[in-house]
Amino acid sequence: MDQKKIEKIKKDLQCFHIKTSNDLETFRIKFLGKKKGIITILFKKLKKISIQKRKIYGKIINELKKEAKNKINIFHSKKNEISNEKGLQFDPTIPGTSIEIGSIHPLSILKNRIIDLFIKIGFTYVDGPEIEDDWHNFTALNIPIFHPSREMQDTFFLCKNPDVLLRTHTSSVQIRYMKKHSPPFRVLSIGKVYRNETISSRSNFMFHQAEGFYIDKKVSFSDLKQTIHYLITSLFGEVKMRFRPSYFPFTEPSAEIDIYCNNEWLEIMGCGMIDPQVLKNVNIDSEIYSGFAFGLGIERLALIIYKIKDIRIYFDNDIRFLKQFKSEF
Ligand code: DAH
Repeated sequence: MDQKKIEKIKKDLQCFHIKTSNDLETFRIKFLGKKKGIITILFKKLKKISIQKRKIYGKIINELKKEAKNKINIFHSKKNEISNEKGLQFDPTIPGTSIEIGSIHPLSILKNRIIDLFIKIGFTYVDGPEIEDDWHNFTALNIPIFHPSREMQDTFFLCKNPDVLLRTHTSSVQIRYMKKHSPPFRVLSIGKVYRNETISSRSNFMFHQAEGFYIDKKVSFSDLKQTIHYLITSLFGEVKMRFRPSYFPFTEPSAEIDIYCNNEWLEIMGCGMIDPQVLKNVNIDSEIYSGFAFGLGIERLALIIYKIKDIRIYFDNDIRFLKQFKSEF
């Protein structure tokens, strides 16, 4: 171990130009390599000399090691600066990942078509909340306590007593709107409803409904028939349709509507004249005013229009399915 040799190593170290990552690796191995690095060997030699000399040389060699490490650090920080400034960390010639252009969901297409049809005949479009209380979803709609749709298996309750729930139908929008507005009005609302049902090809725990209602003086069942006829022929063209007597607690009389499609009758919606009791519940004078209402499931209607077999496919989010639907809406 002698001073001159160490001075020479120091000069070598200082003159070493590190320009690339390869240079850096060569430098590291040459000076600090675990087996044959020059500085590593100096440390090994230290152990063989006298304590006094070891003190002196130890200090010098440690300085040398510090200098080598410093050089490495300087290279690293410069490299980061360059990549931050110029973004040279990636290859700008690689083609970018393409962005898929989405398409309108078939349920949205149908929703927009229905809105368009009803706006044309003077209806106002409104939204209603999906979280409802018992009164708007059931009581005000004349649905008595013992009605099956109130039971736990049908309804998702968020809390009991007072009952807060996910609306089981859009008919609750009737109540919300009628409470705030005085007739006459024609209103359409479309949105999600929730029922605690087993998921299958025909039913889901969530689906969309369209709700329409019209209240004025002298609204009659023939107004209802004409409106439904307009909706169905606009969507299906000239098809056979029938009004089948039915029961809903909030309409009297009530009917279900079927259309004749592919050699069978398909049920597509419910409707009726709004029960005077419902009008009373929202302080509308049933002696002066009458009205009709209807409700239909959007998923079911889309199944028929688009000839889809399984409603679960709507929510699979498969772009190949969605891309098949084109619309101006
Ligand atoms: N709310 C009913 C349901 O979810 C559908 C319905 C039937 C709505 C008749 C109406 C109506 O407005 O008049 O099954």
